[in-house]
This record gives sequence, C-alpha cells and structure tokens, in this order.
Amino acid sequence: MSARAHSYDAELATYQHHNPRSAARFTAAQQVLAGGNSRLTAYFAPFPFYVERGEGCAIYDVDGNRRLDFYNNATSLILGHCNPQVTTAVIEQAARGAAFANPTEPEMALATLITALVPGVERLRFTNSGTEGVMLAIRAARAYTGKAKIAKVEGGYHGTSDHVSVSVTTQAGDADTPQASPSSRGITPNTLADVIVIPFNNVEAAQRILAQHRDDLAAVLIEPAMGGLGYIPAEPAFLEALRAACDGHTTLLIFDEVQTLRMTPGGAQQWFNVIPDLTCMGKIIGGGLPVGACGGRADVMEAFDATQHAPGIPHGGTFNANPMTMQAGLATMRQLTPEVYERLNEYGTALRNQLEEMARSYHVPVQITGVASFFGIHCTDHPVTDYRSAQGQDAALRQKLFLHFLNHGIYLGNKIVGNISAPMERAELEHFVQVWERFLQAVQ
Ligand SMILES: Cc1ncc(COP(=O)(O)O)c(C=O)c1O
Repeated sequence: MSARAHSYDAELATYQHHNPRSAARFTAAQQVLAGGNSRLTAYFAPFPFYVERGEGCAIYDVDGNRRLDFYNNATSLILGHCNPQVTTAVIEQAARGAAFANPTEPEMALATLITALVPGVERLRFTNSGTEGVMLAIRAARAYTGKAKIAKVEGGYHGTSDHVSVSVTTQAGDADTPQASPSSRGITPNTLADVIVIPFNNVEAAQRILAQHRDDLAAVLIEPAMGGLGYIPAEPAFLEALRAACDGHTTLLIFDEVQTLRMTPGGAQQWFNVIPDLTCMGKIIGGGLPVGACGGRADVMEAFDATQHAPGIPHGGTFNANPMTMQAGLATMRQLTPEVYERLNEYGTALRNQLEEMARSYHVPVQITGVASFFGIHCTDHPVTDYRSAQGQDAALRQKLFLHFLNHGIYLGNKIVGNISAPMERAELEHFVQVWERFLQAVQ
C-alpha cells in the first residue's frame, strides 16, 4: 500500500479506545471554553488527551497512559518535568509570597545570569510570555529608530500579537518578493502595511527588499532556526547579510530566541556568531513557569529607564518578573552547564540522523529537519528549506504519524516537531526510533 493511500482510521480507533476519559473531558470543556481550550497548539483531532502529571521525561494522562514527552511544553521544559531543584525553589518561594509589586533579588540574579551568557543582551526587561517579549522588542526598535515598519521572514512564528500574525501560515506574492498576508482574522490593513516580508535564506531577495524599505524600516525580526518550519537553521551568510543590511540602513536586528536560546548557553547568536541589537527570550529562562523577556544594547533599552525622566516606553505588567518564575528560571539556568547543551545537541543530531537513514532505507517520502536539540518531520518527497517548500504535505499521513506516536507512548508537537530534554537517555531515543520504524513499515 502506498504511503498516501494508507488510512489513518486504525490509529484513530486505537487512540479513541485508549482515551475515553480525555474524550469526555474535551466534550465537557467545549461547553465552557471557546474551542475546548485556551491554546491552539493544545488541540488536535479528534480530541486532545488530558494530562494528570509529569515526571522527568514522561507525562501521564487521565486514562493512565504514559507517554515520553518529546514536546516539553513547546521546548520550554529543558530539564523535563518536576526537576527537584526547580520544584523546591518554587515551593520555597510560594511559602514566602507568590507576587509583590516590588523588585526582588531573584529578578536581579536571573538578569545577571542572562546578561553574562547572551552576548547581545546588556540590559533586559522580563515579561510573562514570549509574545510580550517580541512586542516589546518591536516597540523598542521603533522608539530607537523613529521608523515604523518591521521586516519578518515568511513563515516565521513570533507569538500572537498583531504585527507578527502576518505571513505565518499564509502567503502572498512571488517566492522571491513575498507580500504581507494576514494569518489571522482581525489584522487591519494598517498593520499589514507596516510589515515587510522577506524569504528565508535568500540573501539577494532579502537585500533587495530591505534596501527598498530602508527609510521606513525600524527592525528586521528573525528566528535563527525557524521553529514553525521544523527548526530549519538560517544559513550563516543569511544572518550576516541581515546584520550588514541593518547596519547600513540604521535598522535594528532582532533575534527571536524564545526557542533558540536552547542551542548554546548564549543562544543562536553564539552558535552563529552574529550578534543582534535586540533579543527576545522566553521558555527555558522561566524554568517551566510563564515568562518572556526583551533584552539588548544598553542604549536601545534605555527607552525603558524611568530614573532620569519619564521613560520613552512606559512598560508595566502586574506579573512581570514575579518571584515564582524568577526562582524557577534561576534553578533551571543554574543547572544548564555547557555540557548539558552539548549532550542535548548530540542526542538531537543522533536522532535526526537515525530517523533520516531509516526513512531512506524504507523508501518512505519524508524529510527530517532540525538543528541542535530540535527536530521536525515533514511528509513530503521534496526538501523542505523554507515556508513555501513546507506546504502541500500529505495531510492524512501527517495525522496518522502523529496518532501513531501517541498510540505508541510518544508525544510530539502537533506540527510533528520535537526536542530533547535533559532527563532523556539513549533508551528513550531508541524507543523513539523503534516507533518510527514501525510507522515506516506500516506505510512503505
Ligand atoms: C519563536 C517564538 N517566538 C515567540 C513565541 C511566543 O511565546 P509565548 O508562547 O510564550 O507567548 C514562541 C512560542 O512558541 C516562539 O516559538
């Protein structure tokens, strides 16, 4: 049977059979939550499973199923679930107080740690999400340059604010001259007009488009390894060209390192040795609790300073830098030695290589992408190198693959992406490869 013709019904029936409590909870949830939950990535057809608890690299659902967590709450749980030091730090802080309207020492300690590690971050501000971190970086770039427009990469995901909800899951224009396309309802024409779109890893096109808008361009925003496309890394020459274009045009370069901070202690900017003016952060720096941050050059971040005069950017937030998050972040980041990153990256490379070799040996048309501890699986016969080449995949095969992994004790992101966490050992990787082989055998 061809991969395309293979039905997903058997996986669906198995999933439904083993998850009746989750099914009932999702039916009830739809009566009170719009769409049954509060987060797009939490949903997949026919219904998501409801988690009861996590431990190390495993999660347990309300039907008693155990699954290896290869998603790690969208890459944020780099130490897996319930890391003892993180749990203790959070419990001890809860006993002292969960939130104050005042600065606390852990806020300063976490900022000290991050500024020491991330080359482009001299000063930073904490937020409650990566979305807010990106919003703040865009505002800071506009404040600093006095210009209005931002450029982003086609297919780049940067959270859910208006200006970055453009050309994420939609496209317009030619491949080498993409036009801004709303990827959500509710995006106004004015917002669209302020967003310039560049194709990924296309130096000539990016240079041409950025030069055309140089007088209006406050910032170029890029995720150095595109998570939404299965963590395809930027070509070093592409990042260097963006850096040069920004320098030449008095435009700020923003790296969205909400996920890529996982690549090295200093993030993707250290990996590629290209230093942005502003860096958006999130995920791992909160140790599993809600977090985000915007950091960068001291002269740009000066806009937030209220000590000398009214700040250029009045940035508030009831829960910004709340001590629970700061303690969890500190307890996490202090355990992340260079050796931890090296091992995660080594495991990631080994896993990607094995998945690819095995797919080739079974002649199944899939593509494996990724870098460092990240990976993505694409059900297509042509190489996936950017947003447009990632389109037109075999949707039925993707759904089958996702449920196959769930039915065999592995949870991936519903875009069929994954990442390695520190509690994972070779045994977990071997299990993953075995499940992959069963899938390939079933669809070859
Ligand atoms: C690259 C990137 N930027 C921004 C965000 C938004 O972060 P948050 O979900 O914390 O708002 C995400 C979230 O997945 C992300 O992957």
